[in-house]
Amino acid sequence: MELDVKMKNENSLISANQFDSTEKLERYFVEADSLKIARGHPLQGKIIASLFYEPSTRTRFSFEVACMKLGGQVVSSENAGVSSSATKGESIEDTVRVISNYADAIVVRHPESGICKKAGAVSTVPIINAGDGVNEHPTQALLDAYSINNKFGKIDGLKIALVGDLLYGRTVHSLVYLLSLYPKIELYLISPKNLKMPMAFTNILKERNIVFSESNDLQKILSKVDVAYMTRIQKERFDSDMEYKKYRDSYCLDKSLLHLLKKSAIIMHPLPRVNEISEDVDNDQRAYYFEQAKNGLYMRMAILKMALTEK
Ligand code: NCD
Repeated sequence: MELDVKMKNENSLISANQFDSTEKLERYFVEADSLKIARGHPLQGKIIASLFYEPSTRTRFSFEVACMKLGGQVVSSENAGVSSSATKGESIEDTVRVISNYADAIVVRHPESGICKKAGAVSTVPIINAGDGVNEHPTQALLDAYSINNKFGKIDGLKIALVGDLLYGRTVHSLVYLLSLYPKIELYLISPKNLKMPMAFTNILKERNIVFSESNDLQKILSKVDVAYMTRIQKERFDSDMEYKKYRDSYCLDKSLLHLLKKSAIIMHPLPRVNEISEDVDNDQRAYYFEQAKNGLYMRMAILKMALTEK
């Protein structure tokens, strides 16, 4: 656990950097697999609060459905920036101090980087980071790693391209923490020059001696990779629409490029997509993004079960 702030509840999931071994990560894979088949009602009598200050489709629905499938209940604020006391000027710490008296875990999405760390420092119940600004999205990275492992039966030794908005894309930040636990992995970081992966995250690759390269040329590396992980240019993080439009069309994986990709490769995307993967790719056997989203349900069941039932 390498966070610099002490969590009040040790079962909080604030950063993918909390995973310091593949064993710890793979326990989640095993749990998710087992919950696909037999689940019982391990969360009976438990209530999770989902506190979303930013839009979400997959993350919020999959967490809430995951909780219900495990026998738990949900209270939900899907537009907390408007509908919670945040509009009255309440701090996240006070909001969480109060909600932790009502609910057994709090799933938080918020536009401010680092906010989940603040929430975790005061919450007596687990805080689950469902995306904090441009910083991290650890539960997405867990389902991404789980999906890769499901497909290949392994993660180590694979060649993986992370493509698109690596500066503002929080899913790839968390994914770098998890993938870098595997010493023989090779990463290709493909982005426009001004949207490169921040040093805070490439540093971990250096520290762990992971082979990686950075470039803006997708076509050049497509034939080499086992996984092409596409991401959306994060429109909402740019200062102006004009600035966003400069990058919007940087990468588009369409049918005409598929011949470059190995037959055994997979195409991933955390979704929502805009134009990074065209719809004519959806029926290709390598398109894996909808299955990836489905895996989110099983992984979030595992995350909730482990956060709420383990000591
Ligand atoms: C991602 C997010 O919110 O960061 N979406 C998701 O949770 N699957 C990716 C994105 O919005 O581009």
